[in-house]
Amino acid sequence: MSFHSPSPNSHSLRAFRSSFLDFTHDPFYCPEEESIRYFPDGLMVVEDGRVKDLGDYAALGEKYAHVSIEEYGDRLIMPGFIDTHIHYPQVEMIAAYGEQLLEWLEQYTFPTETKFKDKAYAQKVAAVFISELLRNGTTTALVFATVHPESVDAFFEEAEQRHLCMISGKVLMDRNAPQELCDTPESAYEDSKALIQKWHKKGRLRYAVTPRFAATSSEEQLRYAGQLLNEFPDVHLHTHLSENVNEVAWVKELFPECNGYLDVYDQAGLVKERSLFAHGVQLTDAEFQRLFEANAAIAFCPTSNLFLGSGLFKLEQAKSCDCPIKVGLGTDIGAGTSFSMLQTANEAYKVSQLRNQKLSPFKALFLATLGGAKALCIDDRLGNFEIGKEADFVVLNPRSTPLMAFRNAHPTPETLHALTDRLFSLIMMGDDRTVEATYILGDRAYFSPVSSPMA
Ligand code: GUN
Ligand code: ZN
Repeated sequence: MSFHSPSPNSHSLRAFRSSFLDFTHDPFYCPEEESIRYFPDGLMVVEDGRVKDLGDYAALGEKYAHVSIEEYGDRLIMPGFIDTHIHYPQVEMIAAYGEQLLEWLEQYTFPTETKFKDKAYAQKVAAVFISELLRNGTTTALVFATVHPESVDAFFEEAEQRHLCMISGKVLMDRNAPQELCDTPESAYEDSKALIQKWHKKGRLRYAVTPRFAATSSEEQLRYAGQLLNEFPDVHLHTHLSENVNEVAWVKELFPECNGYLDVYDQAGLVKERSLFAHGVQLTDAEFQRLFEANAAIAFCPTSNLFLGSGLFKLEQAKSCDCPIKVGLGTDIGAGTSFSMLQTANEAYKVSQLRNQKLSPFKALFLATLGGAKALCIDDRLGNFEIGKEADFVVLNPRSTPLMAFRNAHPTPETLHALTDRLFSLIMMGDDRTVEATYILGDRAYFSPVSSPMA
């Protein structure tokens, strides 16, 4: 496999020919066929890292005859996947056996995160982490670092070098954690402020104020987090919410004066449009309503929720017409078990099945692309191939394993029915092997060494 550090070629004009799929609307709220754009034989033209044109090859080919074309035949090109909740320091502890959330944190997570006070170590892991994202077709993520400011520097330096749009922040944690992982309300505020000034809006990077969860922050620290959001209104807020039954009970004990878990964050001024809450498995009806009113977002992390035995997220409630909340998909590595957003969509489908709901391939892929961009408030720049948007995209090979080649032997889908079937097979059977290439701002940042011939 290969990785490039693309340097955006400032006046480059590039064209790509393949099948293209993206979303222009939310398929949870309109007929699915009206939510997508699909070109079985399409052409996308990219200029200066942004989408300049997209349409049928038959309509556009002549207009761009002077541009050399990268041919991807029967592959499917989609906007890069957006992972709305992941922890980069937890890469090395994926698949830690046997525990549910609170014990898992104590036994595995906290000891691992202490290593990130060493910047050289953090740099090494950040490089592995970002390579793994690109290998899986994920081009943007909302990323937990650790409590150490150096861990944020290491991550953003690596992301900047690769020209990625990434959102991250220093973890805030001043109690109920090992001493060496704790900051104080004041140091958390000062360190976060300095990191915001250093990294927020530096190129494609964005900052998220990141209290770990209510149980590891004092009320005073959460108020400082709220103060940062007031001082820097376009930074993000990233935290965990109502993941596990024991966690919810503990937060109630720690904040007896609050009216539930979400209210702890609300009273600190943390429930806003640019706030993303991971999990929300145990949310009450009133909390769903409050998230809707605040236009805040949830990251649905099915592999993690199953792995830690946290429960089944009520996606149909979050995406109901009466109370529509912004939702993205999250891998939640290292409680999640795969970097692949295809595998994450696969598990989201199964969680929905266990709730007697159907998650269609269009809805699942919307969550992995435009839905994620909306959840992170970056849909003005990313999430689909609207003209002018940043050209981060993934090339998917529907025949990337022998079994997928057998299953998908028929040619490029031409009907909605055939497309639905093809997409569902990609979600159920696809993974990192299905990602043939990943492009950042129109430059190839990853390509797979094993690609089968194009039809
Ligand atoms: N809640 C608080 N910290 C964490 C974490 O690191 N992972 C998950 N899944 N939940 C959390
Ligand atoms: Zn998490």
